[in-house]
Amino acid sequence: MSTDYSKWATTEEIKTRFDRDVERFSNLDTGQLTTIDAPLTMELCTEAAKYISPQAKELLDIGCGAGNYTLKMLSKISNLNCTLNDLSLPMLEKARERVSAQTNGNVSIIQADMRSLELPDNHFDIILASAVFHHLREDADWEHVFGKMYAALKPGGSIWISDLITHDSPAVAKLFQDKYGAYLETLGGPEYREKVFDYIAYEDTPRSVNYQLGLLQKIGFKNLEILHKNSCFAAFGGVK
Ligand SMILES: C[S@@+](CC[C@H](N)C(=O)[O-])C[C@H]1O[C@@H](n2cnc3c(N)ncnc32)[C@H](O)[C@@H]1O
Repeated sequence: MSTDYSKWATTEEIKTRFDRDVERFSNLDTGQLTTIDAPLTMELCTEAAKYISPQAKELLDIGCGAGNYTLKMLSKISNLNCTLNDLSLPMLEKARERVSAQTNGNVSIIQADMRSLELPDNHFDIILASAVFHHLREDADWEHVFGKMYAALKPGGSIWISDLITHDSPAVAKLFQDKYGAYLETLGGPEYREKVFDYIAYEDTPRSVNYQLGLLQKIGFKNLEILHKNSCFAAFGGVK
């Protein structure tokens, strides 16, 4: 049965919400608190990228927010040229300010929906995409964007995805939703849990790790690896 995605937030609504939320994404030590194990997944994604491409020169950060993943990457490989993409200009401006202070490489920002990004072929050594692909809707969107990422990577380059995920078994999906709810309550009580669940239900359409790994493989990525999974969050990726 196909899903009617017209009930979910539009790209414009998502952009407007993130325009107002820059500070929440500007703490490099904690990452965003609503993501379980955010500091660990930031660490693992950037370490994996470094181990695969220690001589990397070109980094692309999709849905970069205020730039945390790029900053973490620069703490491991210095002076990368950084291409930062986001829908939100306030996010990009904050990211550019923070990232420019940490690299002598070029820093360029691209304000665009990731679906319509125009990127050079075979250009990037590393692509990082944290907490952004869950905004993709139809299968065709996912395939289009993952294909774009593949084309933009150099052979031997890697993509690392850290994201909210769902599960293919409804019962297991419920199990981890309950566990995530309990986690959110530790941050801000039942009201906070409901607030986060409400915006997830309206804005986010995550896919399972199995779905995404299957798609990465179909597109041509190899050496697929799951770096971490805890409850409704996972970090994984692969090599072109
Ligand atoms: C949850 S934040 C994560 C930010 C950053 N990656 C991090 O982990 O700190 C998601 C970001 O993705 C951006 N975003 C949402 N939909 C997008 C789209 N279709 N194309 C590009 N960026 C998008 C939002 O504006 C927001 O800055």
